Amino acid sequence: EPTRIEAESSSATCDGTIDANNAGFSGTGFCNTPNTTGTAAGFSIGGATAGSATLAFGYANGSTAARSANLVVNGMTVGSLSFGPTGSWTSWSTESATVNLDAGANTVELVATNSAGLANIDYLDS
Ligand code: GCU
Repeated sequence: EPTRIEAESSSATCDGTIDANNAGFSGTGFCNTPNTTGTAAGFSIGGATAGSATLAFGYANGSTAARSANLVVNGMTVGSLSFGPTGSWTSWSTESATVNLDAGANTVELVATNSAGLANIDYLDS
């Protein structure tokens, strides 16, 4: 049973707005960053067990091009993710990665590496 952190929660940050205009999201909204490189969505995971963990980001990308992002864990870039088109802004999918977490508190960020910014980010499951 994963622990979900909603993008609109106090355990998350969003370089943009928390929107609710595109239906189908979890919770009460999602993070919509500006369409520019370098914008980020962040999550604070608490009470983690040290070691390998699967992170799954809920997202929508109604554009026709994938939106790429660096995956930054505890301040270190550990990989990159490609958030492919989901068909519409109201169609939601997940993009996953396996990372190493520290015991206790961890920060996880997605930082856009393309000029369209991030996909709309709904939550992080870990
Ligand atoms: C649309 C959509 C937004 C999305 C944006 C984008 O405007 O409604 O939710 O963030 O496209 O291109 O990023």
